[in-house]
Amino acid sequence: MKEPGRAGTVDGMGYPVTRLRRLRSSRLLREMVAETALAPSDLIVPLFVREGIDEPQPIPSLPGVVQHTTETLAKEARRLCSLGIPSLVLFGLPRAKDAVGSGASDPDGIVQVALRRLADDLGGDMVLMADLCLDEYTDHGHCGILDGNGDVDNDLTLIRYAEVAVAQAEAGAQVVAPSGMMDGQVAAIRSALDSTGHAGTAILAYAAKYASALYGPFRDAVDVEIAGGGDRRGYQQDFRNVREAIREVELDVREGADMVMVKPALAYLDVIAAVRSRFDVPLAAYHVSGEYAMIKAAAERGWIDGPAVALEHTTAIKRAGADLILTYLAGELAETLNG
Ligand code: PBG
Repeated sequence: MKEPGRAGTVDGMGYPVTRLRRLRSSRLLREMVAETALAPSDLIVPLFVREGIDEPQPIPSLPGVVQHTTETLAKEARRLCSLGIPSLVLFGLPRAKDAVGSGASDPDGIVQVALRRLADDLGGDMVLMADLCLDEYTDHGHCGILDGNGDVDNDLTLIRYAEVAVAQAEAGAQVVAPSGMMDGQVAAIRSALDSTGHAGTAILAYAAKYASALYGPFRDAVDVEIAGGGDRRGYQQDFRNVREAIREVELDVREGADMVMVKPALAYLDVIAAVRSRFDVPLAAYHVSGEYAMIKAAAERGWIDGPAVALEHTTAIKRAGADLILTYLAGELAETLNG
């Protein structure tokens, strides 16, 4: 009589059992047949820079992430660059906020100052991206200009986005990344850039950006509170929808987006896969603050192995179809991957 699991075992149909485990039997074999390889060159690191501080400020809900001074920002960018991370995306915290988010387009605003400094320090060693939005700069915390009813006025906001884009390009951003989810934002920004001599500045469009509860720690990071306990459901996408995401991406590509993004990432792997299968532009996914915070919090309690989960989650995002991943884990992942 044959023992179960030994050579000659047959399946229910009488065929020899298919042995998928052969290719899992050594680390090297697994390495050879791996379908997905995450590399530091896939990563874009989000960094925060704050006006008017002398020391970097820790962000309690994002352990390991800080609000930088322009000085420490430049040092951190150099360190991440040496780990093989090709790009950073910059978020600014202005000293003062107002109704129209003036600081976002001020040539002496914090992001513009930081971009010039980084361009000087890094030369062409890193691709400099700037998040393009108003929420960090408005006193009401919305991503645009409010109308008389307290709603975000789409087309007035586009005028401001165009001004911000030009200021960022002038300060040295090679890529601007509009994240406000206004209709027509990519077209407005493209035409403003083209008409001011910045035809070479690329657009990474936050194309399918959902109104997500996973942005909580980010709002601590940038000191944003939405007035009156409001939310962004009037402009960001409903998380129940995927076909709508395809329409968003389609419009952004038609308006001139060079690259598109899905955000958040892990709960939206189906959206990433759907976008990948239909569009041929480079696709980014944003592993957002709440996704990072959940790993850190559980790891701190010893409930999960933090670095292992970080690698598994980000590799899954790449497997689903993302070419690029924006993540606060970039530095530690690069260290693991270079290990
Ligand atoms: C808007 C913006 C947000 C994030 C990136 N750009 C916040 C929001 O839409 O409320 C969130 C990023 C994160 O959670 O890591 N400027």
